[in-house]
Amino acid sequence: MPEFDSRDPLTPAFWDERFERGFTPWNRGGVPQALRDFAARAGAKTVLIPGCGAAYELAFLSELGWDATAIDFSPAAVATAKAGLGKWAGRVVEADFFKYAPSKPLDMIYERAFLCALPRAMWPQVAARWAELLAPGALLAGFFFFDTVAKGPPFGITRERLDELLSTNFECIEDAAVSDSIPVFEGKERWMIWRRR
Ligand SMILES: C[S@@+](CC[C@H](N)C(=O)[O-])C[C@H]1O[C@@H](n2cnc3c(N)ncnc32)[C@H](O)[C@@H]1O
Repeated sequence: MPEFDSRDPLTPAFWDERFERGFTPWNRGGVPQALRDFAARAGAKTVLIPGCGAAYELAFLSELGWDATAIDFSPAAVATAKAGLGKWAGRVVEADFFKYAPSKPLDMIYERAFLCALPRAMWPQVAARWAELLAPGALLAGFFFFDTVAKGPPFGITRERLDELLSTNFECIEDAAVSDSIPVFEGKERWMIWRRR
């Protein structure tokens, strides 16, 4: 594990440093199968991808006709995403998830390695913002990382804590094992869909 100057994952500098030095162990290098399967059966949606990193999912969903926008507050993450996205680069926006206001109503928020990137004390704010950004019936869909190790990122959650955070505003309508995880998440992540109540 390299030595880094920035230790606070709540700052863009933390993520900038890791992207700039090519230390991105969360980076899947492609689109997870569960999202591919979901996209094959769901109609095209207006989707937001918060904390998008390299944002492979943005190009994949855009190619399928989805109205996809990806945001990240790290300039280096945004530069990485834009460099790899070709004609979809304009759909990546440098923005803070807690301040970003979508220009149109969302059908879905896609989650991967964003909640677990933030210290546990921030999770109520993440859950509250998800609920604010989604109207009843809209979906929070993606990958959730379950673990109890204190140190992170990634900061794992328990199923009980996730229920506590989400169940007031969301109903879990899908919960499945993941078979193509990268090592850092292997055996500890699940594909889930939560529908806004
Ligand atoms: C662990 S990485 C995951 C990246 C991507 N979702 C993936 O699956 O590869 C977490 C990302 O969230 C971004 N991030 C953290 N806090 C953020 C915030 N408040 N607003 C926007 N992006 C944020 C970081 O810059 C980083 O790119």
